[in-house]
Amino acid sequence: MRLTLAMWTLAACGEPEPQPVEETDVAPLCETGLDVTWDGWAAGFMLSQCQPCHASETPNRYGAPPSVTFDTLEDCRDQAGAIEDAVLTRASMPPAGGITDDERALLARWLDCGLP
Ligand code: HEC
Repeated sequence: MRLTLAMWTLAACGEPEPQPVEETDVAPLCETGLDVTWDGWAAGFMLSQCQPCHASETPNRYGAPPSVTFDTLEDCRDQAGAIEDAVLTRASMPPAGGITDDERALLARWLDCGLP
């Protein structure tokens, strides 16, 4: 009896089981403007990870095509499909890698929400 109680207490103190995140639970966030946004995250990400080669004013593009420039949110919206393809699908950008799983998830979220 005492053993049973001890085991029950242990189980009760354990971490709660992580619940799978349903698309229906998170999708409405996209509409609030409080999710991953340009001002909140994406501008900083593009600045540090992409603009070294993909800004119009960068001193050295390291061969990045002039048409593939990400100065503004509009630039990113126009090329959202190419960003998704290069970074998330092919993982060819940035060429030297260095994107964390968290950044990948945030980028996917930002793209999924239509680049708010
Ligand atoms: C070190 C320089 C450098 C960085 C940093 C970089 N790129 Fe590139 N990017 C290039 C070069 C060079 C090309 C053209 C050659 C090629 O396609 O591999 C290119 C091409 C592209 C293209 C055109 C399609 C393609 O894949 O060829 C896209 C889209 C792109 N980059 C997106 C990005 C994004 C988004 C980031 C940031 C997450 C990024 N790049 C970071 C150098 C860079």
